[in-house]
Amino acid sequence: MQGHRSRTSDWVAALRALYTGAPAGLEIAPDPVAEALLPPLLALEVRALRRSPFVMRLGHRALGAVTRGLSYGIPLRTAAIDAAIRAGVGDGIRQLVVLGAGLDARAFRMGELHEAHVYELDHPLTQAYKRERILGRRPLARGHRLCAIDFERDRIGEVLGAAGFRADEPSFWLWEGVTMYLTPGAIDASLDAIAGASAPGSRLAMTYSARTGVPRWAWHTARAIAAGIGEPLHGPMSSPDVHARLGVRGFRVRSDDSAREWVRRSWPASEHHRAEAYERLVVAERHAQ
Ligand SMILES: C[S@@+](CC[C@H](N)C(=O)[O-])C[C@H]1O[C@@H](n2cnc3c(N)ncnc32)[C@H](O)[C@@H]1O
Repeated sequence: MQGHRSRTSDWVAALRALYTGAPAGLEIAPDPVAEALLPPLLALEVRALRRSPFVMRLGHRALGAVTRGLSYGIPLRTAAIDAAIRAGVGDGIRQLVVLGAGLDARAFRMGELHEAHVYELDHPLTQAYKRERILGRRPLARGHRLCAIDFERDRIGEVLGAAGFRADEPSFWLWEGVTMYLTPGAIDASLDAIAGASAPGSRLAMTYSARTGVPRWAWHTARAIAAGIGEPLHGPMSSPDVHARLGVRGFRVRSDDSAREWVRRSWPASEHHRAEAYERLVVAERHAQ
């Protein structure tokens, strides 16, 4: 990322805000905080689209058509990740680390985190904006810390250690919509750091750009747009490669799926054929070595 705060984090938060209060059948994983975190102009556009069920349905379809189904993946992945976090908390995990948090508002919207400490790590430029926007808002989580980091340069373990994170207790690591912006070297270094700070029973939920299911032209278009806004895309990665990288670091894969599966859990049958597998979510658990 170069010289400015992340714009892609605004867009994904805008989609979460858009699907909050969406008409019956389309609303999933409501994020009542997202709209307040958006830059004013984007918040205005979201409100305009949400002003009636008819306009919202039209917006849903139009965005899906323009992005070739990419936009559907955001609310669907939010729901899939929320479910994975709920399961982790249900199994006793009390630390959530959000890597490249952007405008993630889980600490402020998920009551299930009331006994958990949430550590949000992000680039200083993106985080400065977030800090300003959440000022005075009370988290639902027991603890909430914003920690500045550049994954290409800084050490996750050191940043977290300074914030009070306990590497000897199980943790849930969320890496949502970030790996595609990192070089392979930064991904491996981050995975090493995650493994090094993960007590047995810790979980990692990580999304990655899939190598299959994405037409070549769509991938090149996405790359050109991302490079144009200063957030160049890397990858994609294949599932066997991701699983191998996790396996050598002591993580056993629990699930690995995409919007093609998430849509079946969340939206009516009329929507199922629209979801594409641009991004996958792998959830893995650290075993005792
Ligand atoms: C697409 S946004 C996703 C934000 C959030 N996880 C979500 O899903 O809403 C990508 C995030 O990765 C962060 N990021 C990208 N490269 C980074 C780097 N080198 N160091 C720290 N954060 C980085 C950006 O600041 C941004 O918040």
